[in-house]
Amino acid sequence: MQLTRTQVSRSGVRPTRASRRVLVAKAAKTANGPRVAIVGITGAVGQEFLTVLTERNFPYSSMKMLASARSAGKKQEFEGVSYTIEELTENSFNDVDIALFSAGGSISKKLGPIAAKAGAIVVDNSSAFRMTEGVPLVIPEVNPEAMSHIKVGKGGAIIANPNCSTIIALMAVTPLDRVANVKRMCVSTYQAASGAGAAAMEELRQQTRDVLDGKPAQPKIFPQQYAFNLFSHNSGMDVALGYNEEEMKLVKETRKIWNNPGIRITATCVRVPVMRAHAESINLEFEKDISEAQALEALAAFPGVSIINDRQNNRFPTPLDATTKDNVFVGRVRRDISRDDNKGLDLFVCGDQIKKGAALNAVQIAELLL
Ligand SMILES: NC(=O)c1ccc[n+]([C@@H]2O[C@H](COP(=O)([O-])OP(=O)(O)OC[C@H]3O[C@@H](n4cnc5c(N)ncnc54)[C@H](OP(=O)(O)O)[C@@H]3O)[C@@H](O)[C@H]2O)c1
Repeated sequence: MQLTRTQVSRSGVRPTRASRRVLVAKAAKTANGPRVAIVGITGAVGQEFLTVLTERNFPYSSMKMLASARSAGKKQEFEGVSYTIEELTENSFNDVDIALFSAGGSISKKLGPIAAKAGAIVVDNSSAFRMTEGVPLVIPEVNPEAMSHIKVGKGGAIIANPNCSTIIALMAVTPLDRVANVKRMCVSTYQAASGAGAAAMEELRQQTRDVLDGKPAQPKIFPQQYAFNLFSHNSGMDVALGYNEEEMKLVKETRKIWNNPGIRITATCVRVPVMRAHAESINLEFEKDISEAQALEALAAFPGVSIINDRQNNRFPTPLDATTKDNVFVGRVRRDISRDDNKGLDLFVCGDQIKKGAALNAVQIAELLL
């Protein structure tokens, strides 16, 4: 059946570009599909799940929309059907095969294991289980084998979606690692408002309006003025070490995903006043020689990567190129001239972190479960 759908936006939150688009898609509701629940349906990632499920024609036999008591009773349209949002409780998962969680770490910690015990396979967007031994941490293009033992119908489980900055970095760096083995990686991020959720996007809009109107910006979500400013990532800081949690996620998660505890990584994560899609500048040191041409060839062959690398016209990836797109965009691929050998490269990467950094990656994981 063909249908046309305009996604309904969360109250108080402007529709994203993706949700404003009218999507034409085949309904994927099918009697033998899995029973799906979305936890955190009203959030930035929850809303993106709906777009991605339709875009990918994901099969489902039933759909459950879950959020907090604040949202219970509100309506959410999906593929021509109006669903009533239910309050998330311990009993929400008795009739669920796949639960897509995006309601924050504390909710995942509390209810993820309960959902898995009830027989659901939890695909979790929070950091709650990423480093837990036995929980696969998966980017489907990179390490699908880590979850090959988990399938719908074989009992409950938890699978973790990596941090958005890690996913975007590894989509670009993994194909190069496969050619020349990365020895050391130095990442600087330029992270968008959307990474901190729907309320942070609204804060950037409101502060931008206020500053342009000559009024003082009123920080609520972030401690500092966000409009016309940038600051060190707002995650918790390890005072002794001098790294914030976002930076350490890049370090630890890469080691787990690549199954390479020896990989050397340093990162500086910065929040910039971009609405949606993260950018990352990445410097790489390899064990073997790698040329620019070899790197571009490997990137072009990797699924989920697009290249924008036009030196003549100074045209390289931007967050707007990546916004609402599935692929991660890579450019500025160049030999590191600070080295005397051919074992160093620099790149610039942009990816939509609500999409590939969260909802799309989780739905790709769900596809591997069928
Ligand atoms: N934004 C990103 O790009 C991104 C990327 C990767 C991972 N993540 C992770 O995904 C999760 C959600 O992020 P987000 O950006 O979508 O946040 P968000 O826009 O703030 O949405 C939070 C969602 O969680 C729900 N929620 C909050 N408290 C709840 C409770 N007690 N019970 C049930 N539901 C509750 C909210 O429902 P109500 O509306 O009812 O309050 C809302 O649906 C976080 O763990 C985040 O770290 C986000």
